[in-house]
Amino acid sequence: MKNTELKRIPDHVAIIMDGNGRWAEEQGKERIFGHQNGVQAVRNAIEGAGEAGVKYLTLYAFSTENWNRPKEEIDALMSLLVRAIQNELDNLMANNVRLQAIGNLATLPQRCRSELKDAIETTKNNTGLTVVLALSYSGRWEIVNAVKEIVNNYRKEQEITETVFASFLNTKEMPDPDILIRTGRERRISNFLLWQIAYAELFFPELLWPDFKKEDLFEIIAEYQTRQRRFGKTGTQVESEI
Ligand code: FPP
Repeated sequence: MKNTELKRIPDHVAIIMDGNGRWAEEQGKERIFGHQNGVQAVRNAIEGAGEAGVKYLTLYAFSTENWNRPKEEIDALMSLLVRAIQNELDNLMANNVRLQAIGNLATLPQRCRSELKDAIETTKNNTGLTVVLALSYSGRWEIVNAVKEIVNNYRKEQEITETVFASFLNTKEMPDPDILIRTGRERRISNFLLWQIAYAELFFPELLWPDFKKEDLFEIIAEYQTRQRRFGKTGTQVESEI
Protein backbone atom coordinates (compact mmCIF):
# COMPACT_ATOMS: atom_id res chain seq x y z
CA MET A 1 0.00 0.00 0.00
CA LYS A 2 1.36 3.40 -0.92
CA ASN A 3 -0.93 6.31 -0.14
CA THR A 4 -1.11 5.64 3.59
CA GLU A 5 2.60 5.01 4.09
CA LEU A 6 4.18 7.02 6.88
CA LYS A 7 0.82 8.47 7.88
CA ARG A 8 -1.34 7.75 10.91
CA ILE A 9 -2.16 4.03 10.84
CA PRO A 10 -5.10 2.92 12.98
CA ASP A 11 -4.12 0.56 15.81
CA HIS A 12 -7.46 -1.19 15.76
CA VAL A 13 -9.99 -1.76 12.98
CA ALA A 14 -13.30 -3.47 13.79
CA ILE A 15 -15.62 -4.85 11.10
CA ILE A 16 -19.29 -5.83 11.04
CA MET A 17 -19.23 -8.26 8.11
CA ASP A 18 -22.78 -7.89 6.79
CA GLY A 19 -24.44 -8.86 3.53
CA ASN A 20 -23.38 -12.47 2.92
CA GLY A 21 -26.96 -13.72 2.68
CA ARG A 22 -28.05 -11.01 0.24
CA TRP A 23 -24.92 -11.48 -1.87
CA ALA A 24 -25.90 -15.13 -2.37
CA GLU A 25 -29.62 -14.45 -2.83
CA GLU A 26 -28.85 -11.84 -5.51
CA GLN A 27 -27.26 -14.69 -7.46
CA GLY A 28 -30.13 -17.08 -6.81
CA LYS A 29 -27.98 -19.15 -4.42
CA GLU A 30 -28.42 -20.43 -0.84
CA ARG A 31 -27.36 -18.02 1.94
CA ILE A 32 -24.51 -20.31 2.99
CA PHE A 33 -22.89 -19.72 -0.41
CA GLY A 34 -22.55 -16.09 0.69
CA HIS A 35 -20.91 -17.11 3.98
CA GLN A 36 -18.51 -19.40 2.08
CA ASN A 37 -17.48 -16.48 -0.11
CA GLY A 38 -17.31 -14.30 2.99
CA VAL A 39 -14.31 -16.35 4.11
CA GLN A 40 -12.27 -15.04 1.14
CA ALA A 41 -13.23 -11.50 2.18
CA VAL A 42 -11.99 -12.32 5.71
CA ARG A 43 -8.64 -13.34 4.14
CA ASN A 44 -8.59 -10.07 2.17
CA ALA A 45 -9.22 -8.03 5.32
CA ILE A 46 -6.52 -9.88 7.30
CA GLU A 47 -4.00 -9.51 4.49
CA GLY A 48 -4.82 -5.81 4.05
CA ALA A 49 -4.68 -5.06 7.78
CA GLY A 50 -1.32 -6.85 8.01
CA GLU A 51 0.09 -4.94 5.05
CA ALA A 52 -1.13 -1.60 6.39
CA GLY A 53 0.44 -2.20 9.80
CA VAL A 54 -2.81 -2.34 11.77
CA LYS A 55 -2.25 -4.02 15.16
CA TYR A 56 -5.75 -5.36 15.92
CA LEU A 57 -8.50 -6.48 13.54
CA THR A 58 -11.76 -7.48 15.22
CA LEU A 59 -14.33 -9.31 13.10
CA TYR A 60 -17.97 -9.76 14.09
CA ALA A 61 -18.32 -13.37 12.96
CA PHE A 62 -21.36 -14.44 15.01
CA SER A 63 -23.60 -12.32 17.22
CA THR A 64 -25.69 -13.42 20.18
CA GLU A 65 -28.73 -12.60 18.01
CA ASN A 66 -27.46 -14.91 15.23
CA TRP A 67 -28.51 -17.89 17.41
CA ASN A 68 -32.07 -17.06 16.27
CA ARG A 69 -31.26 -18.03 12.66
CA PRO A 70 -32.46 -21.36 11.21
CA LYS A 71 -30.54 -24.32 12.67
CA GLU A 72 -29.12 -25.35 9.28
CA GLU A 73 -27.60 -21.90 8.80
CA ILE A 74 -26.10 -21.89 12.31
CA ASP A 75 -24.66 -25.40 11.80
CA ALA A 76 -23.24 -24.41 8.42
CA LEU A 77 -21.67 -21.25 9.87
CA MET A 78 -20.07 -23.20 12.73
CA SER A 79 -18.66 -25.83 10.34
CA LEU A 80 -17.38 -23.08 8.10
CA LEU A 81 -15.64 -21.48 11.03
CA VAL A 82 -14.01 -24.75 12.12
CA ARG A 83 -12.82 -25.42 8.56
CA ALA A 84 -11.57 -21.86 8.08
CA ILE A 85 -9.54 -22.05 11.31
CA GLN A 86 -8.06 -25.42 10.27
CA ASN A 87 -7.30 -24.29 6.71
CA GLU A 88 -5.85 -20.93 7.68
CA LEU A 89 -3.69 -21.92 10.65
CA ASP A 90 -0.49 -22.44 8.60
CA ASN A 91 -1.14 -19.16 6.84
CA LEU A 92 -1.64 -17.32 10.14
CA MET A 93 1.64 -18.78 11.44
CA ALA A 94 3.51 -17.90 8.24
CA ASN A 95 2.28 -14.31 8.53
CA ASN A 96 3.01 -13.94 12.25
CA VAL A 97 -0.73 -13.42 13.00
CA ARG A 98 -2.05 -14.01 16.51
CA LEU A 99 -5.63 -15.23 16.87
CA GLN A 100 -7.90 -14.32 19.76
CA ALA A 101 -11.65 -14.52 20.42
CA ILE A 102 -14.20 -12.55 22.40
CA GLY A 103 -17.79 -13.38 23.28
CA ASN A 104 -19.74 -15.99 25.19
CA LEU A 105 -17.48 -18.76 23.89
CA ALA A 106 -18.94 -21.35 26.28
CA THR A 107 -22.12 -21.37 24.14
CA LEU A 108 -20.26 -22.47 20.98
CA PRO A 109 -20.37 -26.12 19.89
CA GLN A 110 -17.60 -28.19 21.53
CA ARG A 111 -15.82 -28.79 18.18
CA CYS A 112 -15.68 -25.10 17.47
CA ARG A 113 -14.44 -24.28 20.95
CA SER A 114 -11.62 -26.79 20.88
CA GLU A 115 -10.48 -25.81 17.37
CA LEU A 116 -10.49 -22.18 18.40
CA LYS A 117 -8.64 -22.88 21.64
CA ASP A 118 -5.91 -24.82 19.76
CA ALA A 119 -5.47 -22.06 17.17
CA ILE A 120 -5.30 -19.37 19.90
CA GLU A 121 -2.68 -21.43 21.76
CA THR A 122 -0.64 -22.14 18.60
CA THR A 123 -0.53 -18.49 17.53
CA LYS A 124 -0.18 -16.89 20.97
CA ASN A 125 3.48 -15.87 20.59
CA ASN A 126 3.06 -14.31 17.14
CA THR A 127 3.89 -10.62 17.21
CA GLY A 128 2.25 -9.24 14.04
CA LEU A 129 -1.42 -8.50 13.52
CA THR A 130 -3.85 -9.76 16.18
CA VAL A 131 -7.11 -11.02 14.65
CA VAL A 132 -9.95 -11.10 17.16
CA LEU A 133 -13.03 -13.15 16.27
CA ALA A 134 -16.20 -11.95 18.00
CA LEU A 135 -18.26 -15.12 18.42
CA SER A 136 -21.56 -15.40 20.22
CA TYR A 137 -20.77 -11.82 21.14
CA SER A 138 -22.95 -8.84 21.96
CA GLY A 139 -21.97 -5.54 23.52
CA ARG A 140 -24.81 -5.55 26.05
CA TRP A 141 -23.97 -9.10 27.15
CA GLU A 142 -20.37 -8.02 27.67
CA ILE A 143 -21.36 -4.92 29.67
CA VAL A 144 -23.80 -6.81 31.91
CA ASN A 145 -21.13 -9.45 32.49
CA ALA A 146 -18.65 -6.77 33.50
CA VAL A 147 -21.19 -5.27 35.93
CA LYS A 148 -21.76 -8.67 37.56
CA GLU A 149 -18.02 -9.16 38.08
CA ILE A 150 -17.55 -5.63 39.40
CA VAL A 151 -20.39 -6.11 41.89
CA ASN A 152 -18.59 -9.22 43.15
CA ASN A 153 -15.18 -7.53 43.35
CA TYR A 154 -15.75 -3.95 44.50
CA ARG A 155 -17.46 -2.61 47.56
CA LYS A 156 -16.72 1.12 47.18
CA GLU A 157 -18.31 3.00 44.31
CA GLN A 158 -15.44 5.57 44.20
CA GLU A 159 -13.12 2.75 43.11
CA ILE A 160 -15.11 2.09 39.95
CA THR A 161 -13.55 4.25 37.24
CA GLU A 162 -13.77 3.97 33.46
CA THR A 163 -10.38 2.24 33.47
CA VAL A 164 -11.56 -0.28 36.06
CA PHE A 165 -14.78 -0.89 34.13
CA ALA A 166 -12.88 -1.45 30.85
CA SER A 167 -10.63 -3.96 32.61
CA PHE A 168 -13.66 -6.23 33.06
CA LEU A 169 -14.53 -6.25 29.36
CA ASN A 170 -13.46 -9.02 26.97
CA THR A 171 -11.29 -6.45 25.19
CA LYS A 172 -9.30 -5.52 28.31
CA GLU A 173 -5.91 -5.95 26.68
CA MET A 174 -6.81 -4.21 23.42
CA PRO A 175 -6.87 -0.56 22.37
CA ASP A 176 -10.32 0.80 21.48
CA PRO A 177 -11.15 0.63 17.75
CA ASP A 178 -10.07 3.70 15.78
CA ILE A 179 -12.21 2.60 12.85
CA LEU A 180 -15.50 0.70 12.70
CA ILE A 181 -16.55 -0.58 9.28
CA ARG A 182 -19.95 -2.03 8.46
CA THR A 183 -20.61 -3.49 5.05
CA GLY A 184 -24.01 -4.66 3.82
CA ARG A 185 -25.56 -1.28 3.00
CA GLU A 186 -26.85 -0.84 6.57
CA ARG A 187 -25.90 1.92 9.00
CA ARG A 188 -26.33 0.30 12.38
CA ILE A 189 -24.04 -0.79 15.20
CA SER A 190 -26.10 -3.91 16.02
CA ASN A 191 -24.79 -4.45 19.56
CA PHE A 192 -21.11 -4.56 18.55
CA LEU A 193 -18.38 -3.23 20.90
CA LEU A 194 -20.77 -0.65 22.38
CA TRP A 195 -18.40 0.64 25.05
CA GLN A 196 -15.26 0.48 22.93
CA ILE A 197 -16.46 2.48 19.89
CA ALA A 198 -17.06 5.67 21.86
CA TYR A 199 -14.61 7.61 19.64
CA ALA A 200 -14.29 5.32 16.61
CA GLU A 201 -14.59 6.76 13.11
CA LEU A 202 -17.48 5.04 11.35
CA PHE A 203 -17.44 3.80 7.75
CA PHE A 204 -20.31 2.25 5.81
CA PRO A 205 -18.99 1.18 2.40
CA GLU A 206 -21.81 0.41 -0.06
CA LEU A 207 -20.83 -3.19 -0.62
CA LEU A 208 -21.79 -6.63 0.56
CA TRP A 209 -19.18 -8.47 2.65
CA PRO A 210 -18.11 -11.13 0.07
CA ASP A 211 -17.08 -8.28 -2.27
CA PHE A 212 -14.73 -6.70 0.32
CA LYS A 213 -11.14 -6.39 -1.00
CA LYS A 214 -8.01 -5.20 0.72
CA GLU A 215 -8.15 -2.08 -1.48
CA ASP A 216 -11.47 -1.20 0.23
CA LEU A 217 -9.64 -1.27 3.56
CA PHE A 218 -6.80 0.88 2.20
CA GLU A 219 -9.32 3.42 0.88
CA ILE A 220 -11.01 3.60 4.29
CA ILE A 221 -7.67 4.03 6.07
CA ALA A 222 -6.76 6.81 3.62
CA GLU A 223 -10.03 8.60 4.38
CA TYR A 224 -9.52 8.05 8.13
CA GLN A 225 -6.18 9.85 7.79
CA THR A 226 -7.97 12.93 6.47
CA ARG A 227 -10.42 13.05 9.39
CA GLN A 228 -9.52 15.03 12.48
CA ARG A 229 -10.31 13.14 15.68
CA ARG A 230 -11.04 15.59 18.47
CA PHE A 231 -12.16 13.37 21.38
CA GLY A 232 -14.42 16.19 22.59
CA LYS A 233 -11.75 18.93 22.29
CA THR A 234 -11.84 21.94 19.97
CA GLY A 235 -10.03 21.88 16.63
CA THR A 236 -7.52 24.46 17.87
CA GLN A 237 -6.66 22.39 20.96
CA VAL A 238 -6.05 19.34 18.81
CA GLU A 239 -3.88 21.31 16.30
CA SER A 240 -1.67 22.57 19.14
CA GLU A 241 -1.04 18.98 20.31
CA ILE A 242 0.23 17.81 16.91
C1 FPP B 1 -23.55 -11.46 7.97
O1 FPP B 1 -24.17 -11.66 6.74
C2 FPP B 1 -22.50 -12.43 8.24
C3 FPP B 1 -22.49 -13.34 9.24
C4 FPP B 1 -23.61 -13.49 10.20
C5 FPP B 1 -21.40 -14.30 9.44
C6 FPP B 1 -20.04 -13.88 9.01
C7 FPP B 1 -19.25 -15.09 8.72
C8 FPP B 1 -18.29 -15.20 7.78
C9 FPP B 1 -17.84 -14.08 6.96
C10 FPP B 1 -17.65 -16.51 7.50
C11 FPP B 1 -16.81 -17.14 8.54
C12 FPP B 1 -15.98 -16.24 9.35
C13 FPP B 1 -14.68 -16.40 9.65
C14 FPP B 1 -14.09 -15.47 10.65
C15 FPP B 1 -13.79 -17.39 9.01
P1 FPP B 1 -25.74 -11.88 6.75
O2 FPP B 1 -25.99 -13.35 6.70
O3 FPP B 1 -26.35 -11.20 7.91
O4 FPP B 1 -26.17 -11.22 5.42
P2 FPP B 1 -27.58 -10.55 5.08
O5 FPP B 1 -27.66 -9.31 5.92
O6 FPP B 1 -27.46 -10.26 3.64
O7 FPP B 1 -28.64 -11.54 5.40
